Amino acid sequence: MDRIIDRCVNHKQTLTATYTYEALTLADVVVVDVQCDYLKEELGNVRNGQADMGALEKSLEVIAEHIPPEALVLIETTVAPGTTEQVAYPIMSKVFRRRGIETDPLLAHSYERVMPGREYVDSIRNFWRVCSGINGEARRRVEKFLKEVINTDEYPLTVLDRPIESETAKIVENSFRATILAFLDEWSLFAERNGVDLIKVIEAVKVRPTHSNLIFPGPGIGGYCLPKDDIFKVTPLAININDTRSLHVAQLTRDALRNMGRAIAAADILVLGASYREDVGDTRYSGSELVVRRLTEMGAELRVHDPYVQHWWEFEKQQEYPSTTHSLRRFFRNQDGLSELQIQQDLPTALEGADAVIFAVRHQAYLDLDPKWMVEAAGGPVAVIDCFGILDDNRIRQYFELGCDVKGLGRGHVRRIKDEVRKARERRLLELNGKA
Ligand SMILES: NC(=O)c1ccc[n+]([C@@H]2O[C@H](COP(=O)([O-])OP(=O)(O)OC[C@H]3O[C@@H](n4cnc5c(N)ncnc54)[C@H](O)[C@@H]3O)[C@@H](O)[C@H]2O)c1
Repeated sequence: MDRIIDRCVNHKQTLTATYTYEALTLADVVVVDVQCDYLKEELGNVRNGQADMGALEKSLEVIAEHIPPEALVLIETTVAPGTTEQVAYPIMSKVFRRRGIETDPLLAHSYERVMPGREYVDSIRNFWRVCSGINGEARRRVEKFLKEVINTDEYPLTVLDRPIESETAKIVENSFRATILAFLDEWSLFAERNGVDLIKVIEAVKVRPTHSNLIFPGPGIGGYCLPKDDIFKVTPLAININDTRSLHVAQLTRDALRNMGRAIAAADILVLGASYREDVGDTRYSGSELVVRRLTEMGAELRVHDPYVQHWWEFEKQQEYPSTTHSLRRFFRNQDGLSELQIQQDLPTALEGADAVIFAVRHQAYLDLDPKWMVEAAGGPVAVIDCFGILDDNRIRQYFELGCDVKGLGRGHVRRIKDEVRKARERRLLELNGKA
């Protein structure tokens, strides 16, 4: 949609949003970006579930009923390989035949690589694209369309032979990222157990150009459709690991609270950040949701702060959002009260009386928070959990000096800092006693 807005602005055309299907009768090109989510039946077992294709199938049928026969239908949704030719094409052909149209529907596929955030439109226009069409004409038309909309002079198009190839390219991209993240999950646990700071390790490894795409795994990674096929071993495992990584945050929170002599049950816990990535207000596939759900299951009282999110619909409307069957609520006990969860916009209010603070998202507003100010706002020492390498060693040290306990995903070195602070304190005490 943003792409169309941009195009209209540049060409001084008007953009009209409508729910009237008749608009389709005027289309030269129809871009389809209706969601096609994967519905899991178990948390941490991607093999047990199915793609929810209902909305996509229904839209294709409606489109075929209304478009001129020569209109190009471009699917941009992330779909399972084969969808354009084996699902979309038969649906649309059937409707075309019913309408007495003898030509084939012109179907193409080109997937999104959009990056939500401030540079949203730019991330569409100024980035490389892969596309394909079901026949020569569809391929020619999709190339023409994308060249008009995207800066293909600087970011050339890759045109693949068949839609299944561009559909596969998207899934390979997603799986590649999921696999790197899952691979680092085990090194993250290793780091926590062996006094290693994974953040510094990743930075050290990334200096090597062949390894520059390592990314620190935060608490949550979104899902997508995979073909149900036994040939896949690595990717489903990676998805399962990523899907459950955020549950570990709840364990770290429990451990940090225990170190401070506090029980998780009935502890007041503040989660900083509800969205799925930094500086955006989108909460879909957010790791924070699972953190909140697991901690609630463990008996904690949760509060959330996020400067970009006013309503966290995954909780406020958990009976029906994203749909009656999709809510992650189904995987946890004791979730009823979460319908009342309100997002706080004022940080000092959110902090008041908190027992633990979880840095869940790398929002700009959280990167430079002063530990002394945090502890004062909370009214005393808190358990601090860093999910994204947000705290530098200096801040970690200050939290310990203020009587807090600190834990972090992949941040085993905090124990060393804790020991240093304890030893310094013991030395000071000895000196004081010596003087007395
Ligand atoms: N947002 C991203 O960052 C991103 C990145 C890469 C790929 N994608 C792909 O793009 C797709 C769309 O992403 P999005 O963020 O825009 O999702 P979205 O859920 O915001 O948009 C889907 C839209 O489809 C509409 N819709 C649902 N059923 C419909 C129907 N029957 N008829 C007409 N419209 C219908 C919904 O109302 C909604 O506006 C994703 O499913 C994914 O495959 C998105």
